[in-house]
Amino acid sequence: MTEPTDIKKGLAGVVVDYTAISKVNPDTNSLLYRGYPVQELAAQCDFEEVAYLLWHGELPTDAQLAEFQALERSLRHLDENVKRVIDDLPVTAHPMDVVRTAVSVIGANDPETANSSRDAELQKALALFAKLPSIVAYDQRRRRGEPLIEPRDDLGYSANFLHMTFGEVPDLVVVNAFDVSMILYAEHSFNASTFTARVITSTLSDLYSAVVGAIGALKGELHGGANEAVMHTFGEIGSADKVADWLDAALAEKRKIMGFGHRVYKNGDSRVPTMEAALDTLVAEYDAGDLMELYTALKSDMQQRKNIKPNLDYPSGPAYHLMGYDTETFTPLFVASRIVGWTAHIMEQRASNSLIRPLSEYNGVEQRTVPDSEKN
Ligand code: ACO
Repeated sequence: MTEPTDIKKGLAGVVVDYTAISKVNPDTNSLLYRGYPVQELAAQCDFEEVAYLLWHGELPTDAQLAEFQALERSLRHLDENVKRVIDDLPVTAHPMDVVRTAVSVIGANDPETANSSRDAELQKALALFAKLPSIVAYDQRRRRGEPLIEPRDDLGYSANFLHMTFGEVPDLVVVNAFDVSMILYAEHSFNASTFTARVITSTLSDLYSAVVGAIGALKGELHGGANEAVMHTFGEIGSADKVADWLDAALAEKRKIMGFGHRVYKNGDSRVPTMEAALDTLVAEYDAGDLMELYTALKSDMQQRKNIKPNLDYPSGPAYHLMGYDTETFTPLFVASRIVGWTAHIMEQRASNSLIRPLSEYNGVEQRTVPDSEKN
């Protein structure tokens, strides 16, 4: 059967709608959030300011930021029944399954779930933004047999997140590196998880359902799961001197090397230099052993052999590892950040909705008649 030429597998290259939230330009290797280069935002703003920008379209004034921060800090606590549901989940469950379930419970508890006004959705987005660090930190701690640490309302987003996870606020360089990672992960136009959120919203479903679907899409290792997979790859390779042999075998088996390549950027992911600079500050802070030799060897070998460059997941995986996060927690950290982009897109989709329903070309058997049966 000949395949019609207009089929776009994976929707590659298809423009399906407008967005005013971010612009990815692979030709100039740039990423703009509401017009601002993400590198400048990472250098000059906190994650809270960037969240405000993505939701409202403009950076906050001092008064707006103070109000936003106060509200965010007041929403960080988890309801008892959310904690109970997390407690009831086996520690063998992947942390992404825990995050997905916790968001679903928050949605089921919210009497305003069906209210899709912009104000109500902004409130839900902010509440999820505030609560996701509590969920992610709690889950990592319970897996380690450690008690929950309640959020502190005297700390900013990233310092509080790290404090709830590790029981102390680390040095400023670590807080800053974490904050940079949150800013870089926050938004990336119509990636698979964001598109999932938009598809669900387009049916007039609620924000929580769209976020739960997006979490499911992010979990896969061709998308957000790659930051975890990078650490598994390093573990499999072992050391820098084994990279060449390992890569020979992996490429011969046509394996995808995690943390490399991108659907949109073909000349390198615009976020990588900023995240690598943050990773360097962590390497100076912690004992990285021979991790960075391995990191550099795999990166240069992939460049030489395949001319494929790393994506954001490549430097963020080792960065989270050095901070002390368990590998399976890396993709939930991505959720905690991308909640901002997802919810901005949910509100944008809602404001100018059209049901997303593409077509398919049938290539199954031709019409036929059900054989006579002895039924009658
Ligand atoms: N390792 C090895 N080869 C690769 C890789 C990779 N990571 N990425 C692309 N290629 C090769 C393909 O094998 C293919 O080669 P071929 O033409 O000889 O068959 C060519 O490059 C094109 O690859 P596609 O898979 O068609 O490119 P696509 O745009 O569909 O893939 C994707 C993008 C899924 C991200 C891919 O690069 C990949 O699987 N990377 C690894 C997973 C990963 O790191 N995901 C994170 C994405 S970024 C993020 O979520 C922050």
